[in-house]
Amino acid sequence: INPNNVEILISAVSSAQYPKTGLAEIALSGRSNVGKSSFINAVAGRKNIARTSSKPGKTQTLNFYNMDDQFVFVDVPGYGYAKQSKKAREEWGRMIENYLAEREELAAVIQLVDLRHKPTEDDVLMYNYLKHFEIPVIMICTKMDKIPKSKLQKHLKVVRETIDFEEGDVMIPFSAVDKKNLSKAMEAISQHM
Ligand code: GTP
Ligand code: MG
Repeated sequence: INPNNVEILISAVSSAQYPKTGLAEIALSGRSNVGKSSFINAVAGRKNIARTSSKPGKTQTLNFYNMDDQFVFVDVPGYGYAKQSKKAREEWGRMIENYLAEREELAAVIQLVDLRHKPTEDDVLMYNYLKHFEIPVIMICTKMDKIPKSKLQKHLKVVRETIDFEEGDVMIPFSAVDKKNLSKAMEAISQHM
């Protein structure tokens, strides 16, 4: 990916706004604050093309990024954000469902979970939802830099067992801080372009 050839196409709230590029789309899903936007920046080789924040709830729209004309990343607002109103949560659900269930261009979803913690009920629900629609999943376990190397396998096992992980989906521990396993993530993405 040429960092100079990454651009945001649109922040969309409805399907009429989805861009027509002819490229495969890879959507990013996960709890608010898990590191979705940071992951996009790591792949893009750009510091802040996708806006990140230490406060959850930064990304509120479906943000489409042209990744060097190779594929399109779709940054999806995070779930499990406590401060959201019921109405906002319902709108979120409609927007996500419209996109995930209907979008022909969707080739795979990158689901991100925090490697430090056991996946939440929402994480499990989201994975099952994706599997229900037979969408390929690349599981990225973020914040790998925050756990000691000696505990890596143990943490991966917790993720694998909590989410009833299907054979054929890939799971990659990742750190946006030192870009650990970025090439593995790229290899998994390239299977769906
Ligand atoms: P929303 O847009 O609110 O859904 O969040 P997001 O999933 O896009 O998270 P974002 O990329 O904004 O990251 C949230 C916070 O986690 C930021 O402070 C990041 O710097 C931090 N972060 C993301 N990835 C990593 C990582 O691999 N390691 C560490 N240590 N921090 C990370
Ligand atoms: Mg974000």
